[in-house]
Amino acid sequence: MNDITFQAIGTIYTPHASLENMPIQPSGAAQTKGYILLKEEFTEGLKDIEGFSHLTLIYHLNKVEEHQLSVVPFMDDKAHGIFATRSPKRPNPIGLSTVKLTKVEGNKLFIEEVDMLNETPLLDIKPFFRQSDNRLQAVSGWLDDKHQNAVSETKSDERFI
Ligand SMILES: C[S@@+](CC[C@H](N)C(=O)[O-])C[C@H]1O[C@@H](n2cnc3c(N)ncnc32)[C@H](O)[C@@H]1O
Repeated sequence: MNDITFQAIGTIYTPHASLENMPIQPSGAAQTKGYILLKEEFTEGLKDIEGFSHLTLIYHLNKVEEHQLSVVPFMDDKAHGIFATRSPKRPNPIGLSTVKLTKVEGNKLFIEEVDMLNETPLLDIKPFFRQSDNRLQAVSGWLDDKHQNAVSETKSDERFI
């Protein structure tokens, strides 16, 4: 693979101190509060962000040590290809979470619905565009067979530690 170097633009702080028994997606972290401290040099880039209710965060799943191409995800007891899951042990351990934005104070963004470990390095922030990011008719493969609320009710376990 080609080497690509990214620098964190900030850090995401959350109440999740352990990889086990934490939410597996933002839908399982309703009202769970966290915040982002953006590096001060990027503060100008936040202009007009407070008009958005949700942000999509792209971050480094920094506690992943090795990848697996076949995984049994938290939501199933059968193996799937890593790219057909949201499991963290990816060749490029990048996480993607759409969270709620509640307040901005300088370089500090207050967020809710956080499903990442405390002190996760942040790579990018993108505003959520309801006009183009929603895909209400989307088909979700093996996950569609699961109970509708299962993603929000399921907690992580030891399988990707
Ligand atoms: C299933 S992944 C989904 C993350 C993101 N919402 C996504 O879809 O890319 C969420 C799990 O990744 C693990 N995790 C969270 N933050 C992490 C980090 N900084 N390093 C490694 N694993 C992490 C936790 O076990 C958490 O339950």
